[in-house]
Amino acid sequence: MAESFEVSMAGEEKYYVPDPSYKEHAWTKDYARAYQEFLADKEGFWEKQAHHLEWFKKWDKVLEWNYPYARWFVNAKLNITSNCLDRHVANHRRNKVALIWRGEEGEERIFTYKKLYHEVCRFANGLKKLGVAKGDRVCIYMPLVPEQVIAMLACARIGAVHSVVFGGFGVNALNMRINDAEAKIVITADVAIRRGKTIPLKTIVEEAIINAPSIEKVVVLSREVDQPVELHKEMEIDFYELMEGVSAECKPEVMDAEDPLFILYTSGSTGTPKGIVHTCGGYMVGTYYTTLNVFDLKDTDVYWCTADTGWITGHSYVVYGPFCVGATVVLAEAVPDYPDAGSFWKIIQDLGITIFYTAPTAIRMFMRVGEEWPNRYDLSSLRILGSVGEPLNPEAFEWYYRIIGKNRCPVVDTWWQTETGMQMITTMVGEPMRPGFAGKAIPGVVADVVTKQGAPVEPGNGGFLVIRDPWPAMLRTVYKNDERYRTYWHTIPDCYTAGDLAVKGKDGNIMIIGRADDIIIVAGHNIGTAEVESALVSHQAVAEAAVIGKPDPLKGNLIKAFVILRVGFQPSEKLKSDLIYHVRMTLGPIAMPSEIDFMDKLPKTRSGKIMRRVLKAKEMGIDPGDVSTLEE
Ligand code: PRX
Repeated sequence: MAESFEVSMAGEEKYYVPDPSYKEHAWTKDYARAYQEFLADKEGFWEKQAHHLEWFKKWDKVLEWNYPYARWFVNAKLNITSNCLDRHVANHRRNKVALIWRGEEGEERIFTYKKLYHEVCRFANGLKKLGVAKGDRVCIYMPLVPEQVIAMLACARIGAVHSVVFGGFGVNALNMRINDAEAKIVITADVAIRRGKTIPLKTIVEEAIINAPSIEKVVVLSREVDQPVELHKEMEIDFYELMEGVSAECKPEVMDAEDPLFILYTSGSTGTPKGIVHTCGGYMVGTYYTTLNVFDLKDTDVYWCTADTGWITGHSYVVYGPFCVGATVVLAEAVPDYPDAGSFWKIIQDLGITIFYTAPTAIRMFMRVGEEWPNRYDLSSLRILGSVGEPLNPEAFEWYYRIIGKNRCPVVDTWWQTETGMQMITTMVGEPMRPGFAGKAIPGVVADVVTKQGAPVEPGNGGFLVIRDPWPAMLRTVYKNDERYRTYWHTIPDCYTAGDLAVKGKDGNIMIIGRADDIIIVAGHNIGTAEVESALVSHQAVAEAAVIGKPDPLKGNLIKAFVILRVGFQPSEKLKSDLIYHVRMTLGPIAMPSEIDFMDKLPKTRSGKIMRRVLKAKEMGIDPGDVSTLEE
């Protein structure tokens, strides 16, 4: 891509201004002033936020920045669960509802802060019984049920490092993550439930741990939807049996601010996913501050983030941020189109949701099925709408604002990443919103759009999105691969390269265009082309494969694969479905190609690198740009 690009946006400067009462009552009443305050004393800004939380011992220094390594709240001691639970149990939130779980058929389970506290303590004591100790890695591969949240918090309670793997990943993806983290325990469930059908998670775990020597035990939550699960006693133990006979109190482990809290794997530009490492102190402060200020969360709010806890959005904005704040969090094992296209709106109506946080793909799906669905429900409880994971195109913004928010609710389009740990760019509640633009860097963050050399682009132009200064919830390293961590800070001089292309508007708002690298965002999920390619070539019929993201009006992108077959194999529709099924079984349903073309040759550079850019341009009927390195 060029150094920067000019963008023509004449006639598109349209803003929506929320009712002034939003600003009047917001935690951050004046964005510009808050941002100036931050710029005037950057560390002081974060220190002020940190003082709102409880620490066993406060820091000697707010930040130690040794490029590209940051230590936040140096020498401070804490446990994030003391802030998520104990703090509320000791005050007026003791009997406040912490968690409302909804199943697909409308079943409900409710946990007050006190109840959640005791469940977490009991499970934490159960883990201790299994020999899990501070620093051990625990893999959590579960459906979206309260026990998943309990398992995460229980790990944090005893200082074990959780690695949550999204339940939609397949055998190889799970195996790779278990082995990379050298997890001691896997916590799973017999099944996940999706569109009325059960998905056997435990069976996938059984296969995934065959070549995983670090695993000592598997904890199984038995949902017994179809039939009781049979446990192999030597290896497997029931989730609730583990909690029997233990105390409902568990002293929180004293963690250093820089001790790891969790590892979460994300796709990179090679076939192996990156274990993004987040630590206790800075992550807590970053997610606490953003949950409070970006969602403008009040004690009376009923907050629902539709993300699965297996993604960073679930970590930061289902579990840690909202519980640190003391929110009432809704967790729904629900999909937007089952039993019908009103399922989400029914939940909003039934539970009186006030803050709703979802993904553009879901919004575009709702647009397609029509406004008669949301119009059947009373959505008047809604106060604030959020979006995350991919660009919220202007049409989707307007529909969301008009049909769901009734021209009343601010929409916070939040840009951030697994690596950033917390929201970084948005339009703060009450500020004018510009459709198509995520907004500006939040107070506490310095973002910019720059050329490859790191020079800021002129307003109105596009380039690479970067973050200039360290921020508390930033990743600290890539697990066992610090080299990959350093790449983030060494690609463009003196800043963190996000990997996204963006446009800096003349008004300072930032528009996110999409990835600049080999990562495809499909329905808001992050998938590496290399991962899909290596899954394809692991099939006996495939000699070579190249994968691209093809723009799709609903999912943002879909996965398209170009495949060269080995000698002796013939292209056929049957082989296409075999290959798709093969990827499904290896990586999981989220990584399945939607289209496969059989090829005799792939466009390559003279040094043998596949030029995906050329394939993509051809697919989209556009100019492939510079092809001088293309081999004949
Ligand atoms: O390309 C950007 C896109 O999602 C990527 C990060 O993906 P992941 O680490 O899985 O985290 C997703 C949830 C935080 C980014 O590099 N992305 C995320 N939010 C937005 C977005 N693109 C446009 N607008 C957003 N609001």
